[in-house]
Amino acid sequence: MSLTKNIDRKEFFAAMGISSAALALVCCVGCSASQAKGSTTAAVIAGLNFTLDLNAPANAALKANGGFITSHNLIIARTSSGDYIAAQQACTHQGFTLAYQSDDSQYMCSAHGSTFSEKGIVVNGPAAINLATYKTALSGTSLRIFS
Ligand code: FES
Repeated sequence: MSLTKNIDRKEFFAAMGISSAALALVCCVGCSASQAKGSTTAAVIAGLNFTLDLNAPANAALKANGGFITSHNLIIARTSSGDYIAAQQACTHQGFTLAYQSDDSQYMCSAHGSTFSEKGIVVNGPAAINLATYKTALSGTSLRIFS
């Protein structure tokens, strides 16, 4: 005598005491969680907006191609071609402070070796999440950084 019985899915969930509404809720929660995991770029700080005076001694490194500073929790760099770029200062792996390497056109974390392109994209891990990056605009000797 066999003890197995073929039941359909609806009967199975009814026997388990799970309603279709509960299943829908589980699906929605699961979908939201997977969407958050699928996000590969750190959140940009909304409304971020400040200006650096390039004549100030603290910002002198930005007067030369390849120079960089950290300010307002960002790393701000002047690329080898003279463009200004800005990204979050903290590595997305474990939060160590990044440096900018103009020779390789990348942000680098010396803690565990992650590297990011000038657009903040992970090039080498262990970091798996891209950097939040910010816009820049130069007006005379004032450099505006904003989201
Ligand atoms: S904290 Fe940057 S690679 Fe680990």
